[in-house]
Amino acid sequence: MTTRIPSTGAPASTGAPATTCRSDEVVLIHRMFRRLYGEAPGLVRDVVPGDVRRAAFLAHHLHGLTALLHTHHRAEDDFFWDRMTERAPACGLHVALMRRQHQAVSDQLDEIDVLVDAWAVAADAALATRLAEALDEVDATLGEHLADEERDALPVLDAVLSDAEWDEIEAHAQREKPPLPLFLLLGLMMDAVPESERAAWMARELPAPMRLAYRLVGRRQYERALRRLHPERAAERD
Ligand SMILES: [Fe+2]
Repeated sequence: MTTRIPSTGAPASTGAPATTCRSDEVVLIHRMFRRLYGEAPGLVRDVVPGDVRRAAFLAHHLHGLTALLHTHHRAEDDFFWDRMTERAPACGLHVALMRRQHQAVSDQLDEIDVLVDAWAVAADAALATRLAEALDEVDATLGEHLADEERDALPVLDAVLSDAEWDEIEAHAQREKPPLPLFLLLGLMMDAVPESERAAWMARELPAPMRLAYRLVGRRQYERALRRLHPERAAERD
């Protein structure tokens, strides 16, 4: 990718690049989360009170988002912070901030899960307001955290983690069962990649059978999932 934030990692003494840019994938995932959480409060506000069918559909989606973000942060907690503390001790304050922000997001997600279930029972208007406000809050907390992480942690991680360790993190992520439909996630990731880099990203990141499956059925499934999530946009286009 060419659109990355500058590295503040230690300058290389050997003339080799100071960063491996492996954290670019994390930036793409962040972009996807910004989009999903940016849209979530509006999805809840648009539900007609009493429309329990729509509320049940969105409850499933919102629980999926919660699970996805927990999984992402857990992987970062497991693979990033101890190594960053050990190998870049001067960055201890940044690591402490990352851990605090993850905890704050996690607490907000727990509250959202409870509110989602309460709201889905009857699509009650007052509960919809509370849930949408809680989603606004997590969107704000997350926005701040992702920006801090991209500025203060990822460049350091690029400098201190080996390629083998980044491979291990990617393999771990691929072993997790996705809490949202696979082609929805893949489509969202693809949309997060700048268009001019998308073909190269697909060739690099997706095995050939997956690329074929996405072209044959995945893209259509993704578009259908988006239309279901945003029926108002689909109606506007008609
Ligand atoms: Fe994070």
